[in-house]
Amino acid sequence: MVKLHEMILRDAHQSMLATRMRTEDMLHIAEKLDQVGFFSLEVWGGATFDVSIRYLNQDPWERLNKLKEAIPNTPLQMLERAMNVVAYRNFPDDIVKKFVYLAKKNGCDVFRIFDALNDLRNMETPMEAVKENGGHVQACLSYTISPIHTVDYFVEKFEKLSKMGADSLCIKDMAGMISPKRAYDIVKGCKDAGIKLEINLHSHSTSGMTGMAYQRAIEAGIDILDTAISPISGGTAAPPTESVVAALQGTEWDTNYDLKLLIEIRKYFLDIWEKYRHLHRINALKIDPSVTLHQIPGGMLSNLIFQLEEQGANEKYREILIETARVREELGYPPLVTPTSQVVGVQSVMNVLHGRYKVITKETKDYCKGMYGKSPAPIKPEIMKKVLGPKWRDEVIDCRPSDLLEPMWEKRKSELKDHDVEMTDENIMTYALYPQVGLKFLLGKAKAEFTSDELPLPIDHDLTRGMVRQSFPEHKQIWIETEPPESRSVTAKIPTEFEVEVDGEPFEVKVNPIGGYLVSGTSEEAKVTTKDMEGSVKSNMQGTILSIKVEKGNKIKEGHVIATIEAMKMEQEIKSDVAGEVKKIFVNEGDSVASGDILIQVI
Ligand code: CO
Repeated sequence: MVKLHEMILRDAHQSMLATRMRTEDMLHIAEKLDQVGFFSLEVWGGATFDVSIRYLNQDPWERLNKLKEAIPNTPLQMLERAMNVVAYRNFPDDIVKKFVYLAKKNGCDVFRIFDALNDLRNMETPMEAVKENGGHVQACLSYTISPIHTVDYFVEKFEKLSKMGADSLCIKDMAGMISPKRAYDIVKGCKDAGIKLEINLHSHSTSGMTGMAYQRAIEAGIDILDTAISPISGGTAAPPTESVVAALQGTEWDTNYDLKLLIEIRKYFLDIWEKYRHLHRINALKIDPSVTLHQIPGGMLSNLIFQLEEQGANEKYREILIETARVREELGYPPLVTPTSQVVGVQSVMNVLHGRYKVITKETKDYCKGMYGKSPAPIKPEIMKKVLGPKWRDEVIDCRPSDLLEPMWEKRKSELKDHDVEMTDENIMTYALYPQVGLKFLLGKAKAEFTSDELPLPIDHDLTRGMVRQSFPEHKQIWIETEPPESRSVTAKIPTEFEVEVDGEPFEVKVNPIGGYLVSGTSEEAKVTTKDMEGSVKSNMQGTILSIKVEKGNKIKEGHVIATIEAMKMEQEIKSDVAGEVKKIFVNEGDSVASGDILIQVI
């Protein structure tokens, strides 16, 4: 008998709907999901924590709590990023331990723990914490293809994880590129080596060979497979649950799940899929066998598409996939999963937009220093030199990265006391993991992009337009609106449409009758015309200003760091391309800026 791990409430919508499924849309179907008898139901962790507070204005702890109440019989599972917890950087042991305690307390039973680099030192603390709190440790290895990642590599590491106290094991093929042969060889290798723990295969449909890989894994003795209810399956998401159940009926591996019940659940999620139509992305639905070369996981791929949209660089999509493969090799073949997928992905975007290693993110520097753990293969010296400078050898660490961190809980707790926030452990944790976004959320200042009642969003909503732009990129559109989006209620009576040429490129421009508020343009040209000023230093990316590093009157040189910005979930530096005295500062910390916005004036 094969068991299934159901991912519709976490990985599926993280892969296909930018992680935006709201708690209320999960609760309505919870009881039915509980009746199936899944090995476990994935409901938490991964990107869901971040997205809940950042875009949904929903408390992730409350989601876990409510789901636990609604799903009493099926073990609930979360994806835990080892020392990164549910964020993108390393945390000290005290935070990781406290987090595991709180997650267990609020309803999480199974903790799927992985480290992006498969550096087992990073998995010790969370694994021990789960055991201490009576949870189930599912220890994961991130799957990837490289000269380093042989079958023996996986078997040996799984043996070590068994000895470290794992309750079950998981091959985490986050990019959906495992081949039937590899799936068979790794599972068989583990079984032949005498590993007794149940083994789970996590994959995505991306490469098109996943169904075959699942079958071969079954033949090698796999115990658990990851699937998602069909309306949010396939493409960059997992293979469909109902299909796998149907395929195994009448065989020795029969799941014995009720297919009729699953089809009922399917109907519910068909409606959900339609409701969230503004998040549909054609590229995410396509089978992409080139994933075996570029190795970008489903969630990362859909985020990358969003980020390219924000940077107005959709047409660079293919180029960035190729650059990503190159950067990954240069950085020692890290598996591409959060946070290394962001490190490699964003650096690749920077390389394509600004020239190879001309803009280097803080995260790339940290990665090269060893702050995420040990890279699978050594990083090429010429890359180390480009990233860390000629004295790069002095900057590299050898210990477990979190050993360098001071305990953080008490500090964050006392900081939060200064704010008008209820001092629960869960709130303190939200703040500790996400000091800026978390605080904004806790203070009640976060805004939901949309609520479930507003769905589906109207065709002329900005977010729906984003979908159209991405799906039909050859048809570039600039919408010029009468009012800012929040207050838009008047429907234009006399809309006029123009075909204009900018630098020889045709654009369709729609002008509504009164005013001239530029809502969104997809072209660089459109942005340039909005602002121009002597000595202006502009943001070269879309994001949130984290800190401003200059004051009025400062004399600065070319290349001086004037601000840091959080773009594409990474912290990056913005440097001045002019020298002189800072005359004006146009932005505040916490401001959202677009690519091309003027930040300061230097004369
Ligand atoms: Co996944």
